[in-house]
Amino acid sequence: MSLVDHPGRQHVHIDHAAILRQIHAEVAPLVGQGKVAAYIPRLADVPANRFGMAVATLDGRLFEVGDAAEPFSIQSISKVFSLTLALEALGPDLWKRVGREPSGSAFNSLVQLESEKGIPRNPLINAGAHVVADVVLSSNRNAREHLLAFVRERADNPGVIMDAEVAGSERDTGFRNAALANFVRSFGNLDNPVEQVLDFYFHQCALQMSCADLARAFVYLANRGRCQRSGKSVISAGLAKRINALMLTCGTYDAAGEFAFRVGFPAKSGVGGGIVAIVPNVLTVAVWSPALDDKGNSLAGAAALERFAALTGLSIF
Ligand code: DON
Repeated sequence: MSLVDHPGRQHVHIDHAAILRQIHAEVAPLVGQGKVAAYIPRLADVPANRFGMAVATLDGRLFEVGDAAEPFSIQSISKVFSLTLALEALGPDLWKRVGREPSGSAFNSLVQLESEKGIPRNPLINAGAHVVADVVLSSNRNAREHLLAFVRERADNPGVIMDAEVAGSERDTGFRNAALANFVRSFGNLDNPVEQVLDFYFHQCALQMSCADLARAFVYLANRGRCQRSGKSVISAGLAKRINALMLTCGTYDAAGEFAFRVGFPAKSGVGGGIVAIVPNVLTVAVWSPALDDKGNSLAGAAALERFAALTGLSIF
């Protein structure tokens, strides 16, 4: 049983362990429904029948169910970590190079880039993440090591790795990302060579983390930019608020409206089947189940988060 005390709300008693057990049982029939991402060949090998979920509360506790300790490919969830580093490096100037509007299009769509002159709609679609990756590359001598160290510290797990096989598998088949990055570069919105930007981007997407790692790693966004363990500032409260806003409006791509309607948390998904959600001032919750719906979000994972919002009453709306 936990006592949650947060501004603007009553003290709420939530039995997270019982809620996670209930959700695990309820979504069991959905696990495996949908399709495991196969356009990155290495991801196609992941068994569809996995389900894990973890909750990290701001008072430092962790609750887990199912395969919550099994590392998986976090893919686009990594865009939030690199965005944090890019905002830290460039500040508001980042917004000259990438927008803040939901795209209403698939995460790898090329269509808006031409009319919008190489300024991607937001940092969480692929083209926007390439611009963010470019900023992280320009501001660090070893961007990959810098990102890995940041993520390990956030997750409090020095064992987090980038899976070279997943990154290589995506590089070998990443024609769409190559097209996007080259197009952005043609408008002068990448400073580094396209190959370097994509190499960094594919490696960030290849971070392997468990639900428990992810729940811990996102706590700074629920905690007004502060690390829960040390109390130190990771990013300003204002930037944490804005990253959460971007996750709410853009974090699940063209399903972001539906996701806000059904679930009501800022969240970020990845084609590895992970989704992380933030309840500001209260907790983070991470879920993983590899089979995806037709928008590229975990089918059972989204259903689990919908139930979590309903059972806890913690939707931000
Ligand atoms: O660039 C890609 O296509 C993948 N590395 C990441 C896409 C992704 O995770 C989109 N998420 N739903």
